[in-house]
Amino acid sequence: MDKRKIILDCDPGHDDAVAITLAGINEKIDLLGITVVAGNQTLEKTSVNALNVCQCLGLDVPVYAGCGQPMIREKMVAADIHGETGLDGPVFEPLKKKLEDQHAVLYMIDTLMKSDGDITVVTTGPMTNLGMAMRLEPAIIPKIQEIVLMGGAYTNGNVTPAAEFNIIADADAAYVAFTSGRPITMVGLDVTRKALCYPSIVERMGKIGNKASKLFVDLMKHFCASQKAVFGWEGGPLHDPITIAYLIDPSILTTKPMHAEIDIRSTQSYGRTNCDYFGYQKKEPNANVGIDIDVEKFWDLVEDNLKKYS
Ligand code: RIB
Ligand code: CA
Repeated sequence: MDKRKIILDCDPGHDDAVAITLAGINEKIDLLGITVVAGNQTLEKTSVNALNVCQCLGLDVPVYAGCGQPMIREKMVAADIHGETGLDGPVFEPLKKKLEDQHAVLYMIDTLMKSDGDITVVTTGPMTNLGMAMRLEPAIIPKIQEIVLMGGAYTNGNVTPAAEFNIIADADAAYVAFTSGRPITMVGLDVTRKALCYPSIVERMGKIGNKASKLFVDLMKHFCASQKAVFGWEGGPLHDPITIAYLIDPSILTTKPMHAEIDIRSTQSYGRTNCDYFGYQKKEPNANVGIDIDVEKFWDLVEDNLKKYS
């Protein structure tokens, strides 16, 4: 079975950490490298978080630090959800794993240019690294097999009524990616808000009793508490790992081809993924947008992959 080669670009972030957990162990995924971006917290913090997660799980995956701020707009973080460290909750051993010397954008370019066009770029944070890579070296664009992102929504946002965090945090980078012409699978809030990590899920995963399940529990205790504090929800939507779950088992996600345009011009709707659900504009679809998720199958997949860790 051919493994799906991926570069995972992320801003750990509690849910990014679970995405790393799944991608790092599943036999269908070849996690070539992790590139880190500022988003949930500053680049310095998201980089340390990515290293800590890999070290904790024993993942021998190179980690590259990328862009510390968006292409144009001012940087924003999500400390209300992810805490001051960006990964509040778990207590890690002293960090020994080091970042690679190469900048993440240059790593993306080198890796894609050397490839046979069989690499999927998964982004679970602001798309700054990908947008900068496309602008710096446009020749990588045809080399990208697929872009799978957690971001956007065709319904309501989570930062403004219009916009979701990963997109509004760098709407210009998202605009570059969505106009690149490459296949896009958009895992937006419309589906991620159905994957709610209730206390019963945390208890279920805790019973596995290995290092991955302990990390999951320590992450989710903080993540869910902050989602309750901010949104009043009993279970936090576990956004990012759905991108990896989709690559492992595409049947988990139901998608609909739509023309999706990033709003970088308006004030009220800045950062919105304007998805033409009904095809009003008769424009060629540029993205397969998630419209439903098999939640039971998703949690089963999470459990199965946590169990794969010794
Ligand atoms: O809006 C949710 C997204 O923003 C998730 O990827 C979360 O980690 C933050 O990056
Ligand atoms: Ca994220």
